[in-house]
Amino acid sequence: MYFKFYDFKEAPFNMTPNSRFFFESAKHTEALSTLIYAIEERKGFVVITGDIGSGKTTVCRTLLNKLTSTTQTALITNTHMSGKDLLCCILEDLEVEYMPGSKSKLLSRLNHYLIEQLRLDNNVVVIIDEAQNLTPAVLEEVRMLSNLETENEKLIQIIFLGQPELKKKLSMPRLEQLCQRIAVFYHLSPLTEEESKQYILYRLKVASESKRQYFTYEALNLIYQFSNGVPRLINSICDSALLNGFIYEKDVIDAELTREVVNESPTVQISGQSVKKGVELDDELKRIVGEQ
Ligand SMILES: Nc1ncnc2c1ncn2[C@@H]1O[C@H](COP(=O)(O)OP(=O)(O)OP(=O)(O)O)[C@@H](O)[C@H]1O
Ligand SMILES: [Mg+2]
Repeated sequence: MYFKFYDFKEAPFNMTPNSRFFFESAKHTEALSTLIYAIEERKGFVVITGDIGSGKTTVCRTLLNKLTSTTQTALITNTHMSGKDLLCCILEDLEVEYMPGSKSKLLSRLNHYLIEQLRLDNNVVVIIDEAQNLTPAVLEEVRMLSNLETENEKLIQIIFLGQPELKKKLSMPRLEQLCQRIAVFYHLSPLTEEESKQYILYRLKVASESKRQYFTYEALNLIYQFSNGVPRLINSICDSALLNGFIYEKDVIDAELTREVVNESPTVQISGQSVKKGVELDDELKRIVGEQ
């Protein structure tokens, strides 16, 4: 709606993860390098956790764009399913032809495929996003996939991406065998104040060729305070601010407009509590978000 008014080629603060808008913050870059390293070195299991909206899926999309054709990938995003259904999804996403059958038949088909790929010098990676929703029983079944190995190396690399409760789930005694096999854990924390400002300026630059100033310095400060450095909340505030700026015909978004936008924003659920989206988190909520 506000594209023309602000000279944007496209929406600067779209909610969908888009690797073209990938801002290489220290943490996002580190998470990405961790994944690339773990895949190249065939480390087996890797876990990336991060608060809601911190950028896990975005990192994953960027990763997929960087991997070469010698890496076969399956991306699983629906995690409310049984172990057998998950196995079918993995086979389908890897474009492996298979006959419906028992779990052991499916596993044997996967094993056969993995050995074939090893012979071709290919690496196979399964990425499971939203992994915090997998039940302990399914997580245990995923562990079984790591038994598919030769004497020297893992035949399959498995990446779990999930909200912080995933780490808690993995520390359950019944999942100890899986937990011991996890080669790398990485936690994606929110952006710092400086990174948050750079993030906003970067997204504006990708969306517009114009050199104009969009947000005042005070508005940028407020956006950080209200969002706590969580990219999705930053996007939400910036998008609403630009929309309101367009309605009120403001060339530059200032602190007053930013505050107004945040006060009008709907509530979101953080750890079961209602919080006004974009409203500055109090200490208790900061603690909860930090623990998630
Ligand atoms: N490094 C980044 N560069 C550009 N945009 C980012 C970055 N990190 C996050 N975002 C933006 O923030 C929003 C939320 O990111 P994303 O969906 O990746 O978070 P998430 O951690 O997967 O969230 P959830 O826990 O809800 O699955 C997206 O709109 C995405 O475009
Ligand atoms: Mg996500």
